[in-house]
Amino acid sequence: MLLNRPQQLNALSDELMDELVTALQDLDADDAVRCIVLGGNERAFAAGADIGELARVSAIELYYARRIERWDTIRNLWTPLVAAVSGYCLGGGCELALSCDLIVASESARFGQPETSLGIIPGAGGTQRLTRVVGKSVAMDVILSGRLLTADEALASGLVARVVAKEAWLDEAKRVARDIASKGPVATRLAKEAVDRAYESTLQLGLEYERRALYLAFASEDAREGLTAFTEKRKADFKGR
Ligand code: COA
Repeated sequence: MLLNRPQQLNALSDELMDELVTALQDLDADDAVRCIVLGGNERAFAAGADIGELARVSAIELYYARRIERWDTIRNLWTPLVAAVSGYCLGGGCELALSCDLIVASESARFGQPETSLGIIPGAGGTQRLTRVVGKSVAMDVILSGRLLTADEALASGLVARVVAKEAWLDEAKRVARDIASKGPVATRLAKEAVDRAYESTLQLGLEYERRALYLAFASEDAREGLTAFTEKRKADFKGR
């Protein structure tokens, strides 16, 4: 799925976010969809929230509209979500990419949280998710100074999973998605949830969660199929059961 508001560098307007959340929910509800790629265009994944809209809205309107709460839907998707990033990935755009399960970036990608230049701060997880991913020092640099990270810096700091040549960002993201989609769907979902736990709980609780998730995966038909297919030297035919 590609964000398509190129004149505004895919700035995340209210309308765009509504459409995005609805489209993602529809895909998530479809059992046949085993991985989703979310991208922008070559020049921008997304250059942040729509600043024109933000300039017009009051704090209480923003609060009552529960605009940021909608983002939780994206984090709670079952289906793995791969961000395909080329060009600018700023502000809400960077937060959106961080809300995906992993990021594939073009060497042209630039990541930043420039909100303090506008007199505001990140509000959809930027101060929290970015810090957990890249650590305090880099997060402070990016958020306080407005410095943009290059793709290689983002790779070195753990923000992105892969960096590829300019022309390959979308193909590579699709390749990753196909790899993910080829695995056992029950196991993939359980594994995604377990990795997320690592960010949200203590190590002990995370390990317990992982163990239980393994037992659950083991009980699936997919596990029988995957283990048997290996011993029979054939490709597994997973049904997601
Ligand atoms: N919201 C609304 N419109 C935006 C936007 C945003 N976040 N980011 C870019 N645009 C619009 C610009 O206003 C411009 O529109 P125009 O052609 O009608 O004037 C168009 O997108 C192209 O942007 P422009 O600034 O001309 O491109 P550039 O290559 O010179 O600079 C950026 C690119 C990304 C550095 C610059 O657009 C920018 O700083 N954007 C804001 C980033 C930001 O602060 N994000 C956090 C928002 S909370």
